[in-house]
Amino acid sequence: MWIMRLVPSSLTLLASISPLIPTPCLARRKWNDTGRGTIAFEENWGVPEIMGPLAGVSPQLQADILDVHNQRLRRMDENGIDFMILSCATPCIQGISSPSLAASTAKSVNDQLASQISNNTFRFGALAALSMHDPVEAAQELNRTVKELGFFGALVNDYQQAGDNNDTLIYYDGPQFDPFWKMVTDLDVPVYFHPRVNVPLILNLTYSHAPFLIGASQEFQATLSTHVLGLCTNGVFDRFPTLRVIVGHMGERIPSDLTRIDSRLVAQRDDGLTMNQTVRSYWHTNLYSTTSGDFDTSLLLFHKGQIGIDRIMFSVDYPFDSIEDASTWVNSLGGTKGGKGNALTREELLALKRETAIKLFKLNH
Ligand SMILES: *[C@@H]1O[C@H](CO)[C@@H](O)[C@H](O)[C@H]1NC(C)=O
Ligand SMILES: *[C@@H]1O[C@H](CO)[C@@H](O)[C@H](O)[C@H]1NC(C)=O
Ligand SMILES: *[C@@H]1O[C@H](CO)[C@@H](O)[C@H](O)[C@H]1NC(C)=O
Ligand SMILES: *[C@@H]1O[C@H](CO)[C@@H](O)[C@H](O)[C@H]1NC(C)=O
Ligand SMILES: *[C@@H]1O[C@H](CO)[C@@H](O)[C@H](O)[C@H]1NC(C)=O
Ligand SMILES: *[C@@H]1O[C@H](CO)[C@@H](O)[C@H](O)[C@H]1NC(C)=O
Repeated sequence: MWIMRLVPSSLTLLASISPLIPTPCLARRKWNDTGRGTIAFEENWGVPEIMGPLAGVSPQLQADILDVHNQRLRRMDENGIDFMILSCATPCIQGISSPSLAASTAKSVNDQLASQISNNTFRFGALAALSMHDPVEAAQELNRTVKELGFFGALVNDYQQAGDNNDTLIYYDGPQFDPFWKMVTDLDVPVYFHPRVNVPLILNLTYSHAPFLIGASQEFQATLSTHVLGLCTNGVFDRFPTLRVIVGHMGERIPSDLTRIDSRLVAQRDDGLTMNQTVRSYWHTNLYSTTSGDFDTSLLLFHKGQIGIDRIMFSVDYPFDSIEDASTWVNSLGGTKGGKGNALTREELLALKRETAIKLFKLNH
């Protein structure tokens, strides 16, 4: 559609004079392609209605989550981030047990995100927040955000909590979620699997003995990696071979342990395991990882050997991690003539910083 190629300012102008554009259409935009800057897409944003569970984080972090156009953009400019794809800060909709409230909040959050970035789609894109209580409803909202709002896919914050006592956990790896995965693959967009803090019942049973392990030191990886491995072992990638799922924080540790994971799983084939490939192989066909919150060169090189540099992409996890730290690190990895580091070749570094993400999100289509 010709209108999608307009620059944002003309779009805003047109939107104000033309009833033909009912909502901000963000897809297929011109973006700030410097040829060398990074693309970042595990980047947290929020509106007051979802900030309740984040009441414990510092006022500065809360302000950084709510901000788009001020300190966030300035830090992007200062550190060479060409384009940032925003998503709703954890747990967002996955922390809402009421299905009707979850569905209406998801729509509201998505509309607000589209509206907030609509005057600078040159620098900002979006991933949808979805209520995952109902796979068909989730599919419809994903379709709406991609087709009508120009979003690049979705980000789910691990399992959907449900039930009157918040004691039902909905995972997306069973056959009842196939209508959702069908929509995802029909739209050909990726879904980001992001961590969430567990419901109180699980925290109580599992972490009372060692509460400092709640959060990003251990709990997030342990919980989310189980969900991602559930997608593998329940055959979701066999039924949807073109499905692309992104797993942040260096793949929530899964690429660090593929030998043991696969050797134990393969041994269970005779017991009815329906996974047709190996977990390692899904990292070459369906799964991607990002560097969010995990800026470690030796780990990156180990994972390069395990899953390939073309499955790993740059991201920050702003504002929980610093744009400056992430950018300084990634730019130290080499790739420039006479540059500081030599961990990666120029081509590998460009793939990590931007080229793989440009292809995955079809930024140049
Ligand atoms: C494009 O991004 C770079 C950071 O990579 C920034 O310094 C520059 O100001 C941006 N250009 C525009 C026009 O936004
Ligand atoms: C977009 O709107 C926000 C809020 O009004 C403003 O702060 C920002 O400067 C605007 N950005 C552009 C590129 O016009
Ligand atoms: C997806 O959204 C588009 C645009 O609103 C609509 O025309 C289409 O019917 C939707 N597809 C499905 C399968 O709901
Ligand atoms: C369930 O969680 C919601 C927040 O998601 C909270 O407001 C409510 O008090 C919780 N209910 C119970 C019974 O824990
Ligand atoms: C946690 O367990 C203790 C007893 O072991 C109980 O008193 C408390 O109500 C539980 N809290 C939750 C949120 O389940
Ligand atoms: C998985 O393998 C089984 C047994 O070889 C086969 O019957 C089934 O069709 C395969 N499933 C998919 C989705 O490829």
